[in-house]
Amino acid sequence: MAVPFVQDWDLVQTLGEGAYGEVRLLVNKKTEEAVAVKVVDTSSAKDCIENVKKEVCVHKMLSHPNIVRFFGHRSEGPIQYIFLEYCSGGELFDRIEPDVGMPEKEAHRFFQQLVAGVEYLHSIGITHRDVKPENILLDDKDNLKISDFGMATMFRHRGRERKLSRLCGTLPYVAPELLSRSEFHAQPADVWACGIVLTAMLAGELPWDQPSESCQEYVDWLQKKIYITPWKKIDSVPLGLLKNILLHSPEDRFTIPEIKKHRWFSSSFKSGVKRQGDVPGPVTKILRSDIERLQLGRANSDDRVQISSSQPEPQGLWEVRYDVVGTEGAQVSFSQPACPDHMLLGSQLLATPGASQNPWQRLVRRLTRFFTTLKVEPSYAALRDTCIALGYQWKQSCTSQATVSTMDRRNNKLIFKVHFLEMEERILVDFRLSKGDGLEFKRIFLKLKQKLSDIISNQRVLIPFT
Ligand code: ADE
Repeated sequence: MAVPFVQDWDLVQTLGEGAYGEVRLLVNKKTEEAVAVKVVDTSSAKDCIENVKKEVCVHKMLSHPNIVRFFGHRSEGPIQYIFLEYCSGGELFDRIEPDVGMPEKEAHRFFQQLVAGVEYLHSIGITHRDVKPENILLDDKDNLKISDFGMATMFRHRGRERKLSRLCGTLPYVAPELLSRSEFHAQPADVWACGIVLTAMLAGELPWDQPSESCQEYVDWLQKKIYITPWKKIDSVPLGLLKNILLHSPEDRFTIPEIKKHRWFSSSFKSGVKRQGDVPGPVTKILRSDIERLQLGRANSDDRVQISSSQPEPQGLWEVRYDVVGTEGAQVSFSQPACPDHMLLGSQLLATPGASQNPWQRLVRRLTRFFTTLKVEPSYAALRDTCIALGYQWKQSCTSQATVSTMDRRNNKLIFKVHFLEMEERILVDFRLSKGDGLEFKRIFLKLKQKLSDIISNQRVLIPFT
């Protein structure tokens, strides 16, 4: 892919792919500043150009520490380019361990930042309409950044609110009123999606396919069956907050000011699972959830140890980083362009202090890849045979690439691509989600990884660019 007007910038790697097109990383040859460029080919769909224009129009209004920065926009024929802040921490969903989630302390911090970003959007009359972990990125300091304003719209203008009627978003994250009412308020629907994200962070699973009476898991929730999964994995204090966010009636649902007053949201986590100054819940609950966490942690410890094998011994179970892909102690830190307009004109950027990095620092945290101990062909054959044995559809795109399709546990379509890359005499097998639920994708990745453990290299995945 060529971006002809961008001189002095290297197109380094694909950061993500979606129905819209792809996001690529651009690095300035001289200053090593990094930006992400979203490339959309609008020739495929009629309304595509209008959608991109709206996305640009909304995104350029935004300025908040928890929103991905918008740098500019260009078009070259049918191809649209949107220049964005590069978030080297990757997607939030890569921090969620399937069926486990993440340490409560981390979820708490991410949730506070997510709510701050959504509160800002609402304060200027914008609703995101597709809040989910795949649309939430992290920067080099693990600060949360809401991204992808392709579905965002204005719900308040000059103090006057309009109700929404379009059904959009992603089914497991949509609020029930979107499925049952012809019109609904924008803000409670975004709040609902934040509640689903919090559930995913604390339990590593989505509670239901969709919040309708046809879905047993949702009926169970309405019937307050919190002794079943995912709720039984969640501590009583954050669960108390979720009970008020995931309220069926949008009128009764917590607003953002109410969320901010809740004691879990406003508490400060000093260390570990238990929070200082917290009034403990029933003893049985604490014991049961702690034991469950330990068991769940142990069940997955293999994967964690493998990925962080050359890291120092973790302090405790909850301190284990299962997604560490980085240089020891070094900050994976890009500078962002000081004057992004220059980039769009193709002229050089001024060198920014602190911009110097070596290639090993230009890392993107991704969990869904491993090195094998074999050459390309046998690696390819081993993965293909494993996928076929599991009943997945395997389609070869070229010698070093394949597309795998299957149905996930909830019977939803899941498609991912696998690339085989030769890197310093080793083979990197890189998995990328094309369609479907990110958590299910990770579950399948972990299953494949376990089945292929005999041919997986235990060396830590440390990749400059792929
Ligand atoms: N994937 C999609 N957008 C991205 C961005 N701005 N930074 C990093 N990865 C991304």
